[in-house]
Amino acid sequence: MEENIKILGIETSCDETAAAVILNGDVVLSNVIFSQIDIHKPHGGVVPEIAARNHIDKIDTVVKKALDDAGCTLMDIDAIAATYGPGLIGAVLVGLNFAKSLSFAADTPLIGINHLEGHISSAYLENSGFAPPFVALIASGGHNHLVYVENYGEYEILGRTVDDAAGEAFDKVARSLGLPYPGGVQIDSLAKEGDPAAIPFPRAKLDNALDFSFSGLKSAVLNYINSAKMKGDKTNHADIAASFQDAVVDVLVKNALNACLMTGVDKLAVVGGVACNSRLRETLTKKCAQQDIALHIPKPIFCTDNAAMVAAAGFYHYKKGSFAGMGLNGQSSLSL
Ligand code: KG4
Ligand code: ZN
Repeated sequence: MEENIKILGIETSCDETAAAVILNGDVVLSNVIFSQIDIHKPHGGVVPEIAARNHIDKIDTVVKKALDDAGCTLMDIDAIAATYGPGLIGAVLVGLNFAKSLSFAADTPLIGINHLEGHISSAYLENSGFAPPFVALIASGGHNHLVYVENYGEYEILGRTVDDAAGEAFDKVARSLGLPYPGGVQIDSLAKEGDPAAIPFPRAKLDNALDFSFSGLKSAVLNYINSAKMKGDKTNHADIAASFQDAVVDVLVKNALNACLMTGVDKLAVVGGVACNSRLRETLTKKCAQQDIALHIPKPIFCTDNAAMVAAAGFYHYKKGSFAGMGLNGQSSLSL
């Protein structure tokens, strides 16, 4: 029998107020994102209290627009999936409590989604041929994981960052170069004018070869900038950006390909905000082709935080009948 399941997704774990309606886990009927970037920019990063207040301001109009754009009402929705962690707790609670209210009022099942499972599920969007098993590299502002996705909802963590996430390193290095928040996209474009081999920044080597560490690299970049300043030397910001980016990309690519090799899986999904990075996309495309690994990197709009990925994850919970009760609480830290 043809299924025709519509899931409303809601995401407010950081600085995006987002809602989306997804049909059968992959068809995007609507995808509405209100980004608070301009609001947080003057502060050089996300201010949790300001994020939560702005989610409260925007959540009803964002959800209404997602339903309108999808040409449906709440009565057409089969389940409401909301992120319940990890994230900024005040921010998470806005979306989750809104979802609970809708679920109660419309008598529609509620599904709690782990934000990381959301990022992994972005690989299914507009991509019905893509299915587990695969290796997922999650690289975002707050998270850096290599995950073996054995089946829908079945995850084994192969590697994780022992300190900063890749996106966090991009944002901190960008800040030290005087670039505005969020820094990843700024470094990406500045690096295009620089030489990636100009400065040999370090690549961390860890006991678990699939773990990540970016704080030493971040410190090396800051030391480089500060010592040049002290000596009165001129620095080439484009070269710094390109060399730093190359060091991050090198490690992400090496570990992701090793994870495929170690698990014997020839399918790789790269998700999270850093998956927008042009050098990462180019390098992986080339290397995966050489090693016969089927690579899938979602469209940039599905890589950064969005609710379409949350609804896609919700679809598989719906199929299993794994629903949440009204007692579901938000969690600032939550593992996969
Ligand atoms: O997934 P995401 O929207 O939020 C989190 O869950 O953290 O990721 C945001 C991160 C930020 O650190 C941002 O600087 C980074 O993704 N990012 C990029 C690029 N676009 C966004 N990093 C490198 N290159 C980019 N083009
Ligand atoms: Zn995220």
